[in-house]
Amino acid sequence: MQYLAILGRQPLLSVAELESQFSDVSILSMPKNGSALAEFTSEKEPNIARLGGTIKIAKELSEFGKFSNPEQYLASIDFSGKYVIGVSDYSRNASARGAQGEALRLKRILKKAGRSARVIPNKTADLSSASVFHNQLGEKPGHIELVKYEKRWFIGIGVQNINAYRDRDQKRPARDAKVGMLPPKLAQILINLCGPLKTGATVLDPFCGTGVVLQEAMLMGYKAYGTDISERIVGFSEKNLQALTETVNFPSSSASRQELDGCGHPTPTARKLLGSACKLSLANSSENKFTVSVGDATSFTWEQPIDAIACEGYLGPPMSQAPVDIKLKTVKQECKAIIIGFLKNLAPQIKAKTPVVMAIPAWQRPNNQYDRLKILDEVDKLGYNVLKFRNLSQDDLLYYRDGQVVAREIIVLRKK
Ligand SMILES: C[S@@+](CC[C@H](N)C(=O)[O-])C[C@H]1O[C@@H](n2cnc3c(N)ncnc32)[C@H](O)[C@@H]1O
Repeated sequence: MQYLAILGRQPLLSVAELESQFSDVSILSMPKNGSALAEFTSEKEPNIARLGGTIKIAKELSEFGKFSNPEQYLASIDFSGKYVIGVSDYSRNASARGAQGEALRLKRILKKAGRSARVIPNKTADLSSASVFHNQLGEKPGHIELVKYEKRWFIGIGVQNINAYRDRDQKRPARDAKVGMLPPKLAQILINLCGPLKTGATVLDPFCGTGVVLQEAMLMGYKAYGTDISERIVGFSEKNLQALTETVNFPSSSASRQELDGCGHPTPTARKLLGSACKLSLANSSENKFTVSVGDATSFTWEQPIDAIACEGYLGPPMSQAPVDIKLKTVKQECKAIIIGFLKNLAPQIKAKTPVVMAIPAWQRPNNQYDRLKILDEVDKLGYNVLKFRNLSQDDLLYYRDGQVVAREIIVLRKK
């Protein structure tokens, strides 16, 4: 089936995430200002709660039946309550007025058919994700976002739950600004770049810090295995993951998968963390949801099995302004030694084709270019292949925020 993805603030990284999970991904539009769009196909309905880089997902109208316009679709719905409808227009020449006019036109058609509807006002041509989320479009019966791109129509099937991401970021009991705050969305992207993994697969983070990757892996139904050189920080991960298992009522191994699928009976707090729609799978039959221990990634021997490695490696010290050349040279050498040492140590411990996805540092220079570690020049002889993407190149795999000196370059490897 054909889907449209409205991409997040680092759209090419989002495209890479989609390519890792779905087929036939192509970029539809990548404007300088405004939302970037991609389309893809998937047999299974994609779950927005698992995609860190996608803000909204909509399904092509023709996938719902033989409809050539949205009025035919609305007329076919078996719903007798009050409709709540909104139009998002992502076409090149779209305007707020045009989108609103389209929504009002659909409201009039519904009225003629004896149905009442409320229209979400368009401040812009596309409805914000907050507006779609708060109005529960695509969530509740009769609450519909109609999405237009040029001559094509789509129906919104999911929007990012902003509150759930905020809570997963800010409500963790143990946080440490010094090791950096990996946004949960980026942690999801790193995990997804590993490619499709089986439920219950073990995801290793050998630089686990306070455990954001491990937390997201657990919420996606994987076993989380973390190590870190700092005993203190391993304690932070332990505390955060323990809190997660207490708020999320993970199903026990005695219950059947079927009973546990979908919501898996989370407590009200867990629902808040995951989002009311509870779309992240909690089904995981293992009793031990996470393991963390102290270990130097350049020499540690990990327990098996390891199905995928997703991590944010050592980024060097936090920086508030561009470093002088001599300082940067030392920091780069230190980071590179740890990352290369880790890859060397890991290679003989994992099976062929095991995915290894790492966020590594890149530093913004006064000329606004990024100084990278150039790790990829060396991975071939360490026993790894570099994954290629259809729609983007390695230069595009960069995650940065305005004003940040230390950005993250993402490297996606497979053991040979
Ligand atoms: C950027 S932080 C990772 C933060 C983490 N993503 C989180 O969620 O908090 C990098 C981590 O690498 C750890 N580290 C540095 N050198 C290491 C080494 N040789 N082996 C293992 N961990 C190391 C640091 O203690 C730090 O926690």
